[in-house]
Amino acid sequence: SLMDKGNYKHFMAKEIHEQPEVLGHTLSRYFDYSAKTARVDGAQALKFKDLSRLIVTACGTAYLAGLVAKYWFEKYARLPVEIDIASEFRYRETPVGERDTALFISQSGETADTLASLRYCKEHGAAIGAIVNVPESTIAREADMVFPTIAGPEIGVASTKAFTCQLAVLAALALQAGRERGVLSPEREHSLVAELTEVPSLALKALGLEADIERLSQPLSKANNALYLGRATNFPLALEGALKLKELSYIHAEGYAAGELKHGPIALIDENMPVFVIAPYDGIYEKTVSNMQEVAARGGNIVLITDQRGARECGNAAQNTVVLPDMSDIVAPIIYALPVQLIAYHTAVFMGTDVDQPRNLAKSVTVE
Ligand code: G6P
Repeated sequence: SLMDKGNYKHFMAKEIHEQPEVLGHTLSRYFDYSAKTARVDGAQALKFKDLSRLIVTACGTAYLAGLVAKYWFEKYARLPVEIDIASEFRYRETPVGERDTALFISQSGETADTLASLRYCKEHGAAIGAIVNVPESTIAREADMVFPTIAGPEIGVASTKAFTCQLAVLAALALQAGRERGVLSPEREHSLVAELTEVPSLALKALGLEADIERLSQPLSKANNALYLGRATNFPLALEGALKLKELSYIHAEGYAAGELKHGPIALIDENMPVFVIAPYDGIYEKTVSNMQEVAARGGNIVLITDQRGARECGNAAQNTVVLPDMSDIVAPIIYALPVQLIAYHTAVFMGTDVDQPRNLAKSVTVE
């Protein structure tokens, strides 16, 4: 049954390993592979063509999916995104009106703050879209248009497959917006969609690195603190890496935009500080690697998560590397989520914490 751990020790492990399959389901729902276009039924309800900004609101890991999407909407659709965590958004009396569209992201569709933010936007006349994993949820019922993630039931408290499926839906919405706004050429859309079709097979390859990740997680389970660094779409992933470490292994971890290193966290670096650097070989790779070298010069214990090209070019600053296949920019945040999840999972398993039900946490936060 779907509620069964199968051959896995934890639901979280099972859910991490389901990603190639559920990402395939989600992508095939939102992309037309033969036409090589995004094909999001109901997207007209979001009025992308006429928007001057898109409001995005969520909590926890779902918020971090929205933060990745901000980079995509702005880059591929030239659509400014205003994103906030729901518990702040709902109380900050932000101006919202009839010309606005607000998008809410929630695995459960029941998170109290996200629902309150939705109601606030609805009362002020905005068009409401929701990306949810539970189609019969309250958020799904109250939205004007629902874009379901096809992740299947997620039991582990820490979100994994719902997150990457949220990213798949958001990538489709960003490309759809780019086309509707006349800023994404058909050629560019075709090549981006062709790249996205590689996601399930790349996800499978990422899972193939699990034994390496398990090995490097063992010493980490003795750390008291950890730092995650990344730039651009890897900045939200750095936040997600730190969030997962906190939630699952109770290691105090922070995610930082690599460019902010000098504005604070560099003061924490010593030989006891594990530093994860997420740096695929992309347009901003050199900048991130130069931050990594600053960490190395202060004795930080580095784990570089990169691709083959990045591993060749990085010098010898990193004690450990996790080497993914080379891939294009748009798929990287979806695929790089997998090693980040596996690091937190295996660290927690070594520490012996309750992986599926971490202390003090709830799967769905339905009260404030
Ligand atoms: C809780 C869960 C997280 C989840 C967050 C938002 O904190 O432990 O895994 O990301 O709520 O939940 P939602 O159901 O709205 O995505």
